[in-house]
Amino acid sequence: MENLKNLSEEEPRYQIIGSCEIEISRPFCLVIFGAAGDLAKRKLIPAVYHLYKDGLLTQNFFIFCTDIIEMDSNRYREIIKKSLKNTLTKYFNITSWEGFATKLYYSSFDFTVPEPYLKSVKEQLPELERKYKTGGNRIFYLAVPPSVFESVIYNLGISGLSREDKGYAHIVIEKPFGRDYSSAKKLNTVLREYFEEKQIFRIDHYVAKETVQNMLMFRFANSIFEPLWNRRYIDHIQITVAETLGIEHRAGYYEEAGVIRDMFQSHMFQLLSVTAMEPPVAFKADRVRDEKIKVLHSIRPFPLDSINEYVVIGQYGRGTIQGNPVVSYREEPGVSPESTTPTFAAMKVYIDNWRWNGVPFYLRSGKRLPVRKTEISIHFKQVPHMMFSKVMDENIEPNILVFRLQPDEGVSLTFQTKKPGTRVCLNPVLMDFSYQKDVSLDAYEWVLLDCMLGDQMLFLRQEGVEETWTILTPVIEKLDATTEPGIFPNYAAGSSGPDEANLLIEREGRLWKSLITVKEHERTRISRLRGYKK
Ligand code: BG6
Repeated sequence: MENLKNLSEEEPRYQIIGSCEIEISRPFCLVIFGAAGDLAKRKLIPAVYHLYKDGLLTQNFFIFCTDIIEMDSNRYREIIKKSLKNTLTKYFNITSWEGFATKLYYSSFDFTVPEPYLKSVKEQLPELERKYKTGGNRIFYLAVPPSVFESVIYNLGISGLSREDKGYAHIVIEKPFGRDYSSAKKLNTVLREYFEEKQIFRIDHYVAKETVQNMLMFRFANSIFEPLWNRRYIDHIQITVAETLGIEHRAGYYEEAGVIRDMFQSHMFQLLSVTAMEPPVAFKADRVRDEKIKVLHSIRPFPLDSINEYVVIGQYGRGTIQGNPVVSYREEPGVSPESTTPTFAAMKVYIDNWRWNGVPFYLRSGKRLPVRKTEISIHFKQVPHMMFSKVMDENIEPNILVFRLQPDEGVSLTFQTKKPGTRVCLNPVLMDFSYQKDVSLDAYEWVLLDCMLGDQMLFLRQEGVEETWTILTPVIEKLDATTEPGIFPNYAAGSSGPDEANLLIEREGRLWKSLITVKEHERTRISRLRGYKK
């Protein structure tokens, strides 16, 4: 990390937010390709603005935004100001915006051809770098459609921008990393032709979510849970990412991707690997990433002949979300009326290693489900001998440890207590810990800050990306070849997914953890009533 040493001497190294001490970025220039697009406007620039407002950025930085749309920097600033005001509402602050806006530049060019890289980027950057004293540190962020990744990488490479002559040159790409095994490999070949692995930051924002980080601490900084974290005590594990959103305005991308590419290949399998990994020998980027990759290597290939026993897919029909009627997937603008793209999937995954032999991991994710909820639940085994069954009728619920990632973050454990009184009567209770929102950095802010600091812990290595494609490419191909248009839609928007997904787990004597709690059920009921009154 020698390239990072050019932090100005007078600037503080850390910022205190709430009870946390957070390292401040070093000088940098952020070049955004696709700056007029949705990702840049909704996630990226708000994240940098937030970091700036929280005092987590050095004074020595600027943002060089590029896109094909013709406009000047002033017009671009106006657009961003409007979009920040809309997305951040009360967090938008005019004074900090004015400071931030002076560091925002826009240059329009077609980034699929090489000339502008030489003219626009190579000629304009040095002057701005001198002005802002960024020490030549550059972050190239590809907020462009995956189809354009390769040409941007190639053009950066041939124009010499990937070289680390003065400062660092980091390149950031977002999932999906390819659309199958061979395209992922090809993308990496282009990347590696011009960038070294230490320059490449592959983002999966799920890995940067606070609770995912906390799971590492929970598992490896407490001695009481780790001895139980294996096939002897755990019956099964469930990983759920439920969304109420549909595909919004992303039909073009989603029709090509579908839920397995969009959510499983990276997000779900990353959550799986953090849950199942062995203790790393040190809390260092490569040691943690080594262990996560080992989990992916141990995943049992899906038996394609009996794929329906392992993978269930679905597509939403019309329904109601939080009281409002919504259209079916096939009626969304830009989606084919015959589309066989899945918007829901449930999978049973086995990890063939010493720790997890025989323990199923049930994964499910879908759009237009009744609630937004991301959680990992560890379902412990039943007690070995039911000594209470002779004196009481209740079923003894096994212990469940739940990591809640979204919308509220926390950890809870259910266990049994005795109800007061003379009759033997068990009462399941909940021990719950909610994270205080002392520091409200979102996943994008963490990954950007880490990229500025050169810490690759939260970023994926190519080996892991290829391994997940090795597992999922045959599954996607098999499902593509066998899915008839007639089977969809097979779940209503606002329901918990197709019936077959319940069967997947129920035929093994287990149940999905309910998506809706009693409170949420009540909330949905009230908003549905409100919907009727409109
Ligand atoms: C993205 C997917 O990576 O993650 C989207 O492309 C999905 O389809 C989103 O909606 C979910 O992210 P989050 O952080 O809102 O759960």
